[in-house]
Amino acid sequence: MEVVIAPSPDDVADLAAGIVARAVSTLDTPVIGLATGSSPLPTYARLIAQHRAGLSFAHASAVTLDEYVGLADGHPESYRTVIRREFVDQIDLPVERLHSPDVHAADLAASCSDYDRTVVDLGVDVQLLGIGGDGHIGFNEPGSSLSSRTRIKTLTDQTRTDNARFFDTLDAVPRHVVTQGLGTISDARHLVMLATGGSKALPIAEMVEGPVSASCPASVLQFHPHVTVLIDEVAAHELVHAGHYRETYRNKPSWQQL
Ligand code: GLP
Repeated sequence: MEVVIAPSPDDVADLAAGIVARAVSTLDTPVIGLATGSSPLPTYARLIAQHRAGLSFAHASAVTLDEYVGLADGHPESYRTVIRREFVDQIDLPVERLHSPDVHAADLAASCSDYDRTVVDLGVDVQLLGIGGDGHIGFNEPGSSLSSRTRIKTLTDQTRTDNARFFDTLDAVPRHVVTQGLGTISDARHLVMLATGGSKALPIAEMVEGPVSASCPASVLQFHPHVTVLIDEVAAHELVHAGHYRETYRNKPSWQQL
């Protein structure tokens, strides 16, 4: 796990956009894993700017991590709608190559398995991730199996409260979701965690330096061979080994990329 403590949220977004842009410009058929939440929005803004300056996503595919169950198709807060509005509709990635879970299928369990197979068959090159206050990634809440696949989950009260800011009322936040499992997410070749601000300091410390445990689902990243944790100074506040991470990044060999 490579932990990069950047001076500001802007620097975090610059680094993350650089990783995605490199994959898109060097791979023949890049597959990018997109995350929702506020954390990746500045990264998407930079990638949109790079697209306007000439970076093409026409040969790329994208997968989303998760989706609410129970919102009407096209609901403004459905994650597919959000990811289209905030990113995909502003670049030249063909919308038929934006894959997301079908939460309207009559057989939801079968639809979850189908989506899992789609993600595996595509093979995600770079997966962007944010972290929830309770240590979730995607919508894998505490207690999620570390080898789980795409399935239905129930949100914790904390997550519903955290996400209520996007809805008119707390009651309007769905209780059920479909999410790529921790095993599914771990199949991606490169995981890029983005976290900025004080509310992320504790979950990031648990993820990076705590025990690997289903109680902090993001801690499964400790098993992955290629993880980049991009955080700002504030989100790094609880890290015991922050000095070592800074020293390591300062002395990163010039030939070694993120
Ligand atoms: C939601 C999403 C997660 C995201 C988390 C944190 O619950 N399902 O993928 O990482 O929110 O969101 P934010 O970046 O807004 O703090």
